[in-house]
Amino acid sequence: MPSIRIIIADDIKNTRESIRRILSLDSDFQVVGEAGCGSEAIRLTELLNPDIVLMDISMPDIDGLKATELLSFRAQNTSIIIMSVEDSSEHMTKAMLAGAKAFIVKPFTGSELTSTILNIYHKETRKKEIISPPSNPATEEDQSSAKVISVFGAKGGIGKTTIAVNLAVELAKTKSAEVLLLDFDLQFGDIASFLNLVPKRTITDLAQVNPIKDEDIRFNILNHSSGAEILAASTRPEYAEMVTPEHVEQILTVVKPHYNFIICDNSSRFDDISLSNLDIANEIWIVTGIDIPAIKNTKLSLEVLHSLNYTPKIKLILNRFEKRMGIGIRDIESSLGMKVNYVIPEEEQLTVILNKGVPFIEAIPRSGPAQEIKKMASDLIESTITHSLPDRKETKSSGLQKILGLGG
Ligand SMILES: Nc1ncnc2c1ncn2[C@@H]1O[C@H](COP(=O)(O)OP(=O)(O)O)[C@@H](O)[C@H]1O
Ligand SMILES: [Mg+2]
Repeated sequence: MPSIRIIIADDIKNTRESIRRILSLDSDFQVVGEAGCGSEAIRLTELLNPDIVLMDISMPDIDGLKATELLSFRAQNTSIIIMSVEDSSEHMTKAMLAGAKAFIVKPFTGSELTSTILNIYHKETRKKEIISPPSNPATEEDQSSAKVISVFGAKGGIGKTTIAVNLAVELAKTKSAEVLLLDFDLQFGDIASFLNLVPKRTITDLAQVNPIKDEDIRFNILNHSSGAEILAASTRPEYAEMVTPEHVEQILTVVKPHYNFIICDNSSRFDDISLSNLDIANEIWIVTGIDIPAIKNTKLSLEVLHSLNYTPKIKLILNRFEKRMGIGIRDIESSLGMKVNYVIPEEEQLTVILNKGVPFIEAIPRSGPAQEIKKMASDLIESTITHSLPDRKETKSSGLQKILGLGG
């Protein structure tokens, strides 16, 4: 293993020296620089591109948290470990939001320090290895076919399905767009139950066909009263395995010419299915929340997506926003290093409405969440209208429905 290159940033010289002494006992570590203040830590990190910065919080000029925040944008290959004398969840939260990868309380033992460094280093290295660069990120939009939107978020219950379903219904019903809603949460997909539909056939049935053709897909589609069409996920978790990334690719390739929008719901994991969907998507909508685990997981997901060169495709949706939680939109933006594109407020009626099988966009169209979904739909229409929508209206009946004589 090449040695792990480390910068020590602490305003107390003795502390720097004792850390250096601990690290010198192990050839895995190489201290490449020392900084006594925040600005020096930033300068050295940018110059030396270390694997790890050990960052004290209270330092002259720029403090360790501010320096971490700046470096989390500017030095994405460097992981920052915050060292603090304060052992409180508030400090840990602040460190996390600033972009630190770990938090270690002073005074620490030598083995606490070295195991934290090794842990973070190996985790980051593994992440970089797992993710090889994509073959062809679909950033270029083909205006003659559907815009594929992949809704993703690295936490269950964050609102992915809620957003995907309501957006699809709004686009289909109010904007009269041709919309397909695809459930790629293969094990526990719940789009059909969100819309009170009973799937007789699902993506798993399609996976039995080779090659997958228009009529196979048509045969498996469910129709919602809004006009949105749905391809449901497997009815049982154990069937999910039958669907492969090749199926995802085939299905999307076949359906793309026949819709204005294809909205794909996903599980909360980076796996071969979600990765192939994210690769094909024109836009990746990342749903986040305002709780610390959600922000932490979003931050990690964004790092993965950036390393896959998907940055231009990403839109960020902050769901279940509540002012009283004490974290502002700005805080989240600075923690994630990205602008939030849409903010959906917390609305306690949503789950009650969900249990009735009615999309909230229809049940409470004046509510905060519905207004934001309408804005998303309008923006999508506006960004697509220049080329494809007029054409799509004309080709509406020459799409799948006409080919198969199934109405439309
Ligand atoms: N803005 C919101 N306000 C209140 N409840 C919400 C909101 N968004 C989602 N929910 C609720 O959170 C739960 C999980 O949402 P869901 O869309 O299934 O998450 P995911 O697909 O990410 O697992 C549902 O009960 C849903 O009604
Ligand atoms: Mg879901």
